[in-house]
Amino acid sequence: MNVQIADPVLLDARRLNAVHDMFDLVLVDPPCTGSGVFDRNPRMKWHISPDSIMKYATIQREILQEASRFVKPTGRIVYSTCSITIEENEHVIANFLRSHPDFETKPILPRLGSAGLNGLNDAERFYPHKDGTAGYFVVQLEKSDYN
Ligand SMILES: C[S@@+](CC[C@H](N)C(=O)[O-])C[C@H]1O[C@@H](n2cnc3c(N)ncnc32)[C@H](O)[C@@H]1O
Repeated sequence: MNVQIADPVLLDARRLNAVHDMFDLVLVDPPCTGSGVFDRNPRMKWHISPDSIMKYATIQREILQEASRFVKPTGRIVYSTCSITIEENEHVIANFLRSHPDFETKPILPRLGSAGLNGLNDAERFYPHKDGTAGYFVVQLEKSDYN
């Protein structure tokens, strides 16, 4: 694609010790159950289970926690999955916000989807039957300007 500004590195995103930069924007697009794309990949539904959801939720929490270390003051994280389970989305974000008071959610404008569940109104959910898209969750987290 002739992208000149990308600097790819191959790492386990739960351990980013080799990264030494700070960023204005970090996109966290972690592995997930893919419950929002069962229409495109129907076989995935035979692999989802309570255990697999919790396995992904644990990885997602670890990646989000690690990614947050590299956000500049006033910078942002966009966390997004192609899953619609609450465990991989609102629960991950609520858990993160409890231990990171220096981050808060911000709406993504213009609002195109439905509000997140459990009162996470700044998050957006997209559903195949309502939005004509795959099932997605996306939320923006802004870091305060104090260190
Ligand atoms: C939802 S996909 C992201 C796709 C990517 N944004 C793209 O456009 O190609 C999640 C990706 O995370 C990778 N992954 C899984 N565990 C990981 C980990 N611990 N560290 C880094 N990447 C991981 C998976 O292999 C998969 O490619």
